[in-house]
Amino acid sequence: MDHIRKAILKAKAAQKHRAEVVSVASPRRPPDVEPKPASSAGASSDHARPLLDLDPKYLEANRIVAHLPHSPLTVGFDILRTQVYQVMRERGWRTLLVTSPTPGCGKTVTAINLAISLARQHSCFAVLIDCDFRKPNVAEYLGYSPDIDLIDVLDGHCTVAQCLQGFTVTGGGLGVIATRDPLPRPSEVLSSQSMKDVVASIKAISPDTLAIFDVPPMLVADDVMAFLPEIDGVVLLVTPGKSTYADVDACLRNIPKEKLIGTVLTKYEGAIEQHHYTRYYGR
Ligand SMILES: Nc1ncnc2c1ncn2[C@@H]1O[C@H](COP(=O)(O)OP(=O)(O)OP(=O)(O)O)[C@@H](O)[C@H]1O
Ligand SMILES: [Mg+2]
Repeated sequence: MDHIRKAILKAKAAQKHRAEVVSVASPRRPPDVEPKPASSAGASSDHARPLLDLDPKYLEANRIVAHLPHSPLTVGFDILRTQVYQVMRERGWRTLLVTSPTPGCGKTVTAINLAISLARQHSCFAVLIDCDFRKPNVAEYLGYSPDIDLIDVLDGHCTVAQCLQGFTVTGGGLGVIATRDPLPRPSEVLSSQSMKDVVASIKAISPDTLAIFDVPPMLVADDVMAFLPEIDGVVLLVTPGKSTYADVDACLRNIPKEKLIGTVLTKYEGAIEQHHYTRYYGR
């Protein structure tokens, strides 16, 4: 399936950097109008889906910022990206799961930004998969309405290759497999043979493909536990004022030590001193 990656990368030439002043607002619903296909050049001839244009302002309003060049907001995600990438490359890992003890810690926002940041470096092809079957909202955060999704793949109605959606805003280095609606019995789906086949198909896209899975919080159900055997690495998000010591401890006891890449502090509202050279080099 290397042709999928090549097709998505072909649209790189069409990418326009549209750096805007970042203003973080409340999350919004996706626009009524579905984004138009931005480029089908190369993609259709390789049987991949046309790349989609996304609205940079809509992304920023939803805290999706990792595509912005020279933005101080992307630095944290780039540092996380590099740390994760180095560990995964060193260990030959291909699959990563982003979770948290309880809801609302920023998993989806972090997973999307991390995937975009990984996509921006040329050494890997990032695939983001919405496996939060309780509250799937990757497509909503990105602002598009998928016509086919992961459930169609799991049901055998289409292949991973047919479902994979690329975006111009990420330079073509990111593929997304969305989920449109919540699904009953998520943990059974996540531990099914069909799900194992999907993970295998994603890995088969190319040797440098890295899969990032957005999943539910660990302590609300057994979904993450059911899926962990298929996953190489885990990033655990922790939010001050929300994640208790007991909750974090419960997660750490359930994640195999060798799989934990690290914990990430999210939604920290204290002041972080901006290092003077960020501005200097950020120009
Ligand atoms: N780093 C951050 N700083 C501030 N706010 C954030 C951050 N990350 C996410 N948020 C906000 O927190 C809210 C929840 O984010 P998100 O949907 O990513 O969380 P989640 O862990 O995926 O939630 P759920 O468990 O419901 O799936 C959103 O309003 C989002 O904009
Ligand atoms: Mg989420």
